[in-house]
Amino acid sequence: ARVRVRVPASTANLGPGFDALGMALNLYAYVELTAVSGESVVRLHGDNLDGVPTDKSNLVYEIAQRVFRRAGIECPELAINIASDIPLTRGLGSSASAIVGALVAANALIGSPLSDDELFQMATAEEGHPDNVGAALFGGIVAAFWDGERAEYVKIPADPRLQALVAIPRFQLSTEKARHALPKQVPMRDAVFNVGHSSLLVAAFCQGRLDLIGKAMKDALHQPYRAALIPGMERVLAEAADHGAVGVALSGAGPTLLVLVERDSPRKEELESFLIDTLRREGVEADTMWLSPE
Ligand code: HSE
Repeated sequence: ARVRVRVPASTANLGPGFDALGMALNLYAYVELTAVSGESVVRLHGDNLDGVPTDKSNLVYEIAQRVFRRAGIECPELAINIASDIPLTRGLGSSASAIVGALVAANALIGSPLSDDELFQMATAEEGHPDNVGAALFGGIVAAFWDGERAEYVKIPADPRLQALVAIPRFQLSTEKARHALPKQVPMRDAVFNVGHSSLLVAAFCQGRLDLIGKAMKDALHQPYRAALIPGMERVLAEAADHGAVGVALSGAGPTLLVLVERDSPRKEELESFLIDTLRREGVEADTMWLSPE
């Protein structure tokens, strides 16, 4: 038996929805599993998987074994092929794509005994937050909350009028380091600020209120603390709207910056130059990519 799955990249937080909102993007990772009779083997394809282990500590292998155990099925040996167009450790959900790819492929290989909800719970517990894995598993925009035991989510379709422009700096930033920059406690007014903005953002997506999205994508809980790790970010956040952006945020834990743009905007080139030039002025070389919500 052989199963191949394709999993989208994802951008988490969308500004105010820290650990709560995620959106899938049309850039993919691929996981192929084949049950074999010999020794397990892991093969990596492409340039985005440097440093990923190919022994039994490989995340896809480990997660597949967990799926089999959970389903009460004897663990088969596996030939695993992994390929990814999602850059590693850049804030585009590469680890979520590996986790979700492994879960979905392993489950499919044994006839899908686990429900999507069970896969979501396992993915969230593995990742430690539900935003990237929710979007990677369900697509669209996912609003979710995880209490440490169970995660609940609602999927909202992404607005087809919107495109995403990402600026991917040529340096890696681990989620761990970017989470370490956050304070243990925040002022009440900042919490209120984010509850309001995140609620407004979700409602604006639901009603297609593109006019409100930029105003709602403001954050006081993580972006200000992470700014020091991404030179040029503050200026991009402050000025992207002046160059035609509908909304702008740090993508997940960064360092990638996410800009939402109307698909038929006449200012796309201007916006792209603004992003590249602003980051370059701070000494950050970045690659841009035009993506669509998935
Ligand atoms: N919500 C997470 C964070 C996403 O911002 O740290 C990164 O994986």
